[in-house]
Amino acid sequence: MLALTDFSSRLIAWQRIHGRHDLPWQNTRDAYRIWLSEIMLQQTQVSTVIPYYARFLERFPTVTALADAPIDDVMALWAGLGYYSRARNLHRCAQVVAHEHGGAFPQTVEALAMLPGIGRSTAAAIASFAFAARATILDGNVKRVLARVFGVEGFPGEKRVENAMWALAESLLPDAANKDEVTAYTQGLMDLGATLCVRGKPDCVRCPFASDCVAKVEGRQRELPAARPKKAVPTRKTWMLILQDGDSVLLQKRPPVGIWGGLWSLPEAADEAALAEVARDLGAEHLQRLAPLSHTFTHFKLDIEPRLGEACSAPRELMNAETVWAPLAKIDAYGVPAPVRKLIDALSGSLI
Ligand code: ADE
Repeated sequence: MLALTDFSSRLIAWQRIHGRHDLPWQNTRDAYRIWLSEIMLQQTQVSTVIPYYARFLERFPTVTALADAPIDDVMALWAGLGYYSRARNLHRCAQVVAHEHGGAFPQTVEALAMLPGIGRSTAAAIASFAFAARATILDGNVKRVLARVFGVEGFPGEKRVENAMWALAESLLPDAANKDEVTAYTQGLMDLGATLCVRGKPDCVRCPFASDCVAKVEGRQRELPAARPKKAVPTRKTWMLILQDGDSVLLQKRPPVGIWGGLWSLPEAADEAALAEVARDLGAEHLQRLAPLSHTFTHFKLDIEPRLGEACSAPRELMNAETVWAPLAKIDAYGVPAPVRKLIDALSGSLI
């Protein structure tokens, strides 16, 4: 673990030399301009935001001008930026600031976070950039930096992991010695995440934390932060009968709806006993257990228990247009689901 006091000073030193200094919303303490940029930058890249930001400020130079504008004008200027609830909240927030705060943004993280569209991280960004408040941000970029540098395990979208990251981020804040340090620190976190510690191919060679970074030292940049855990999919089990008559196998057409709707498949049952009954009705004998097979669909996993039977007596159940004896060599002519095809192919292999 890095010495905690060292993290902020190293980050600030790096930001001052290698960070971004000339973005249109930097070099100001105007909360309106900072707030506008932070809302636009949520889920949106800097290069996309820049022209929108300029047009917005030209049309709405103050928070009161924005509050007084018709929502349609706001939406029209926002068009193309996406996530349109941001624009509606932006307008509502401007009205609250104009009418309930006398046209001036509140200065604490807590008060900022109560405004429409401003979450905890955005509130901290505004408070630190506009008011030099000692408050930490924690957006997706910062989570990636912290997970890598400090080796934080677990998916950061999970509440437990996120809470731990907030605590870690808080503990890393520099002592508020001077206002510029807080600003450089917050901007440094953003810049490191956006320019070096990127998701795909982090530029560790230029990183001020390379020698201590857990992900770098352990070669785990791709594993940290941990990906969203795959949802456990429910499992269904089914018993299938491969009924063989010489070189042919019995296929049944599945009902038009549900999985494999309209495809040709094997006779099926929900358990061993039910399959034995199906087998008896079809005149199958000498049932033989074959190796089970699993197939994963998007929403569930299907475990197949195949049973091989020989057609001995005439089937009791009537054969009809929905049931065919398909020659193994002509299986291609039937639409057969992949895992069923695999079972039948294994059978063909064993016959050769
Ligand atoms: N992303 C979010 N806030 C930002 C900022 N102030 N500068 C650059 N990128 C950002």
